[in-house]
Amino acid sequence: MKALFRKVGSYEKLSQLAALEIKKKIQGGNPIKLGLPTGDTPIGMYKELVKDSNIDWWNVTTFNLDEYIGIDINHSESYKNFMNRNLFNHIDIDKFNVWFPDQTDDYDAMIQAVGGLDLTILGIGANGHIAFNEPGSPFNSTTRVVDLDKQTIEDNARFFNSIEEVPTQAVTMGLETIMKSHEILLIAKGKKKLDIIQKAMFGEITEEVPASILQEHDNLTILYCE
Ligand code: F6R
Repeated sequence: MKALFRKVGSYEKLSQLAALEIKKKIQGGNPIKLGLPTGDTPIGMYKELVKDSNIDWWNVTTFNLDEYIGIDINHSESYKNFMNRNLFNHIDIDKFNVWFPDQTDDYDAMIQAVGGLDLTILGIGANGHIAFNEPGSPFNSTTRVVDLDKQTIEDNARFFNSIEEVPTQAVTMGLETIMKSHEILLIAKGKKKLDIIQKAMFGEITEEVPASILQEHDNLTILYCE
């Protein structure tokens, strides 16, 4: 494992640093492929990216980590809508370079066809999920349909009017897909995430804690704030 754990003083700082990692990649001038998350944690990072009108998005292709099944794509909480609202509607990215997993694509082949992911940003679920690879997900999993964990459904209920509205399935990038990314940046905020980060980074590498596979990645940074 070659991991860097960085605790920063504020969510604003975390968001700025995460955005900076993305900007550095884009400014390199080469075509860049990013793996992108939704959820609470990356919202500040997306705000920072939107603020910077100097970023040239033309050479950037994005692959979102996951998408719900069972809600309309136009539902305000679909991940496509989340991304449009928080990032894509505000930047000059070619919409043909924006991808979400769905049940019909061979997402892994698409990612491979463009040369693989250069940088993937991850959040982490309280149960150790990354993307929607819930506990028990095989380490060699690729993009597929999954059932969401009870805890994930409960955690995500905050985005819906009621828990009954939360989708119970999603399409997610697999753990193997994520591990193939050249660089990974995991962002997490709140003391409630500290236990699972510790377990994932220093505990046993086990499919019961999907994020523990990240210990085997050789270019991993974790940015954390309380
Ligand atoms: C969402 C995703 C999830 C979230 C995780 C943390 O695209 O991949 O794994 O990153 O559930 O979510 P927040 O940031 O809301 O705590």
